[in-house]
Amino acid sequence: MAILRFENNNEEVSLEDGTPIAQCCEEAGVPFACTEGICGTCIVEVVAGHENLSPPSQQEIDFLGEEGIKKERMACQCSIKCGNVKINF
Ligand code: FES
Repeated sequence: MAILRFENNNEEVSLEDGTPIAQCCEEAGVPFACTEGICGTCIVEVVAGHENLSPPSQQEIDFLGEEGIKKERMACQCSIKCGNVKINF
């Protein structure tokens, strides 16, 4: 079981390990557009638990760069592997 927390509104969602985070992020208010890792609309700041997210997609690396990917992720591209992750948007 994994927990995704939203720092900006103090919401918390329990997810099965390996669940894509897109749907719960959208329900929490993260904006989406392309849903394919192209536009950057869904970028969220990862405040804690970066290591508990799936490895970055090539689209995320291309858009965010090697430094940016250490702090931010595209919510349409990643899954939560396990444990706790805190994001801000
Ligand atoms: S919605 Fe376009 S990059 Fe995620």
